[in-house]
Amino acid sequence: MAKSFLSIERLTQKYPDGNGGQFTVFENASFGIEKGEFVCILGHSGCGKSTIMNILAGLSEPTSGVVKMDGFQISGPSLDRGVVFQNYSLLPWLSALKNVTFGVAARFPDWTKQQVEDHSIAFLAKVGLSEDAIHRKPSQLSGGMRQRVSIARAFANEPKLLLLDEPFGALDALTRGTIQEELLKVWRGTNQTVFMITHDIDEAILLADRILLMTNGPLARVAESVEITIPRPRVRTEIVESPNYYAIRNHLVQFLGKRSAELAGQPSEAGGTHTPQTIRIDKTSVQTSDQPILQAVKT
Ligand SMILES: Nc1ncnc2c1ncn2[C@@H]1O[C@H](COP(=O)(O)OP(=O)(O)OP(=O)(O)O)[C@@H](O)[C@H]1O
Ligand SMILES: [Mg+2]
Repeated sequence: MAKSFLSIERLTQKYPDGNGGQFTVFENASFGIEKGEFVCILGHSGCGKSTIMNILAGLSEPTSGVVKMDGFQISGPSLDRGVVFQNYSLLPWLSALKNVTFGVAARFPDWTKQQVEDHSIAFLAKVGLSEDAIHRKPSQLSGGMRQRVSIARAFANEPKLLLLDEPFGALDALTRGTIQEELLKVWRGTNQTVFMITHDIDEAILLADRILLMTNGPLARVAESVEITIPRPRVRTEIVESPNYYAIRNHLVQFLGKRSAELAGQPSEAGGTHTPQTIRIDKTSVQTSDQPILQAVKT
């Protein structure tokens, strides 16, 4: 099999359990992400999603296993990987614009001040921030505006990989809906590779090419990779009309409500890896009555 752009190989994370022993968050997790793909990961609280993301960002080291991007092993943080956290993490003493230019100037050291500023303003405009708002400091912006700045900052740096850890978790449903569509627009325009954690099933279906499903921890694993067989461009109000929408949604709800617990805590087979099973649900392809709608594709 050809190597993926991002390749996660036999990743294991253990932590001290407080009683002199260790507990295993996940073991031998292996999966790949292709260039330009938008992948979401869903799983219950504590299964290890943020731990995986922090390892991909280079902010923490796994107990064992490797992550390779473009064939090279990741070690430490890099401008090639941009991260957006739930809590905005903007620099409070800088304006929205300066929060963006700061990273862009570091990423493109040969650019003039004007180039850096024009590029940053263009990305702030893409996420709907006006000329007036971009000169305000984070404390003078609403939560939604702050998160727009975080997204603009991450995309403006043009990293090879964007890592988003529940970026819309703190936002109200209306703002969330608007920003999700802005995120899709920016992603379409840049073709960056995105790996995003979310707790919101509908958000994941709207945004992702594939959704990775994790079982409950400890000893969690990435059990399935569900293809989102809904054509793009996607608009929230229209995707519900896709014949695949409810079939995919039901599959995800069933997994999170039931199977994530049933499959929990199963250790890997001796020496085996935990590569997720690919699930493709497509009701639009022509079928006869005895053909299953749901296919598990061996990879
Ligand atoms: N530095 C650490 N030391 C010890 N245990 C940790 C550490 N970081 C995380 N854990 C534990 O690892 C497990 C996974 O944590 P993680 O933050 O990755 O979960 P998560 O899937 O992101 O959860 P949530 O959806 O609530 O954000 C949890 O049991 C957590 O308590
Ligand atoms: Mg988390």
